[in-house]
Amino acid sequence: RTLALIGAPTDIGAGHRGAVMGPEALRVAGLGEALRERGLEVIDTGNLSGPANPWQPPVDGYRHLPQVVAWNQLVMDAVRTQLQAGRLSVLMGGDHCLGLGSITAVARHCRDTGRKLRVIWLDAHADFNTSDVTPSGNVHGMPVACLCGLGPKELTHLGGSSPAIVPAEIRQIGIRSVDQGEKRLVKEYGLDIYDMRYIDEIGMKRAMEEALEGIDADTHVHVSFDVDFLDPSIAPGVGTTVPGGPNYREAQLVMEMIADTGRLGSLDIVELNPAFDDHNRTGKLAVDLVESLFGKSTLMRD
Ligand code: ARG
Ligand code: MN
Ligand code: MN
Ligand code: MN
Repeated sequence: RTLALIGAPTDIGAGHRGAVMGPEALRVAGLGEALRERGLEVIDTGNLSGPANPWQPPVDGYRHLPQVVAWNQLVMDAVRTQLQAGRLSVLMGGDHCLGLGSITAVARHCRDTGRKLRVIWLDAHADFNTSDVTPSGNVHGMPVACLCGLGPKELTHLGGSSPAIVPAEIRQIGIRSVDQGEKRLVKEYGLDIYDMRYIDEIGMKRAMEEALEGIDADTHVHVSFDVDFLDPSIAPGVGTTVPGGPNYREAQLVMEMIADTGRLGSLDIVELNPAFDDHNRTGKLAVDLVESLFGKSTLMRD
């Protein structure tokens, strides 16, 4: 299987500067080499080049909306190109607003090829805000809502038609920070959320079994890995840390169980922020986890 790395160096949707350095930090941590060692052919397509971050306050509830749209168009086109070439796309963000462009392309690819889509959204946050309820105006808190058709037309119709996905196609794991108005919206839209309380009570294994239920040979699995999913004690290199996340073994298990489905078709690695990191420790951890996602077992299984 051939895999294409796509760098999207921007923090256009974030509340802190620094995710712009994410792609390079992943390269320096050895992402490409690690995947080649897994026996995959890896093509690094380099970095996309989009608008600079003007670092302005929100306008009508959004920060940098035109620039967010431009970056997501670039990401959508790049991901689509790689999927059409039969490659597995790996988006190296960049902040999580880019999940919108990436998943819009993946959803379209699934429609075109008659496949079912299952998005596994690994995150501390639900990213289901709208301009009315956002506490920040940062669009990285809104991509799931936009994908489900809720948001400004420029973002909800990125791929032409809207919504790009329906809530039934997504499972969110590790959630522990949802804003007040956002809570109401995720309930209204019926999002399938495996939050930390649920994981504490039933365990990561069962939570993941439920989240992966129904995946079959016709399913394309997309993983959107927001690095702040991880507990900050092991992953300090993100802009929006939230305590109480999955520990190292729980995170490994998540990746291993997704790998076991054999249906992984595309991946986002987002929100890695070297400005907050400790000697690229979080970048290296992300690479370690992605190795597991591509089948490397930390146990005596391979
Ligand atoms: N819910 C907060 C907001 O809307 C934080 C979102 C953080 N999102 C992320 N992808 N890190 O501003
Ligand atoms: Mn997050
Ligand atoms: Mn996120
Ligand atoms: Mn595919």
